[in-house]
Amino acid sequence: MANDLNLRKGKMTMSFFEWDAQCDVGEFSIDSDHRMFARSINELHDAVQSKRGNEVLKSILSDVVRLLTDHFVREEELMKKHQYPEYGDHKMEHELFAERLRGLQREVEAGTGLPTVETLSSFADWFQHHTKGTDTRLAAYVSKAGDRQDTASDQM
Ligand SMILES: [Fe+2]
Ligand SMILES: [Fe+2]
Repeated sequence: MANDLNLRKGKMTMSFFEWDAQCDVGEFSIDSDHRMFARSINELHDAVQSKRGNEVLKSILSDVVRLLTDHFVREEELMKKHQYPEYGDHKMEHELFAERLRGLQREVEAGTGLPTVETLSSFADWFQHHTKGTDTRLAAYVSKAGDRQDTASDQM
């Protein structure tokens, strides 16, 4: 891992996928995952722009896929815990997107494809759209569930 990080050191441009407070949904663990994902997409973008080698791209992509997979699992656990009514649709959105990322990862691994700025833009767009709609609804539901629980325990 340390080697990977050294390999990737170089010019960082953090402005490709802008993530500001307006993108936050108000649930700490979700927001910190989202910020990490945005950072890793920026890292991948930077590597593509500076024409870094295939090994670097593979390494960053595998981190992106792992971050995303872990994040999706965390959200899905949260949904199950709160018996969230949109669980099925939300999980389906995750699966479709994860498959797009894994498709790119397979191509890069096989040496048959490379990430392009257009592809990364479409990932960033999807992610922002999903966050502002689907994840924001989940965070609001979880926060209300927390309020309901507080009220119930106050009445005990
Ligand atoms: Fe999310
Ligand atoms: Fe989500």
